[in-house]
Amino acid sequence: MPELEQNLKEKGKNDLLQLVEQTTDINIYFIRQSHPRGLGDAVLMAKDFVGNEPFVVMLGDDIMQDKIPLTQQLMQRYDQTHASTLAVMKVPHEEVNKYGVIDPGAQSQPGLYDVKQFVEKPDVEKAPSDLAIIGRYLLTPEIFDMLETQNPGAGNEVQLTDAIDRLNQIQRVFAHEFKGGRFDVGYKFGYLKTSIEFGLKHPEVKDDLKAYIKELGKKIK
Ligand code: G1P
Repeated sequence: MPELEQNLKEKGKNDLLQLVEQTTDINIYFIRQSHPRGLGDAVLMAKDFVGNEPFVVMLGDDIMQDKIPLTQQLMQRYDQTHASTLAVMKVPHEEVNKYGVIDPGAQSQPGLYDVKQFVEKPDVEKAPSDLAIIGRYLLTPEIFDMLETQNPGAGNEVQLTDAIDRLNQIQRVFAHEFKGGRFDVGYKFGYLKTSIEFGLKHPEVKDDLKAYIKELGKKIK
């Protein structure tokens, strides 16, 4: 973005210039999914771009917080397993029907599960566990072979979870239990809560935000 950098330089906006300069080494490519046929279909769109390598899927409405970023945790697991590994987290039992859920097998290391089955949005009564998939996946490229032949599942959409379940029948797929913080910005109140929680920790705005919330508290009964 040379024009933007030039413009910021001319205006003496050095703090913004610094921010822009930090991002110049990032290339962003996108592929459009023309019809909303499901998460599995969306991931399949990236097949040619990904090629024959392991890759990461990150769902944008799940925001994670931990000392070691969750995607890095998955990459560390991959260095040991050389297999698809996805993140799961314990959720309240009555909410399991909002998620992909695993039927966990043995733990080969603490927090690293073999998986007997992956089920997308099970009924609360039938869910195999409370360990839910939370939107971070490290996948081997063989997932694309599964996705190409995947029939629609829950919600009549092509589900990534169903393709992962089939992948698990031909090569091992592991689940890594995440113990950090998770924020869901996929619904309005979740979006608000996340903004406030992150704002309260941000050096630039935390004092103003605290003062604002205190002031607001006096008005709300
Ligand atoms: C998707 C996945 C689901 C996963 C969830 C995590 O569901 O299909 O397996 O548990 O993301 O946020 P969605 O939230 O798109 O309904």
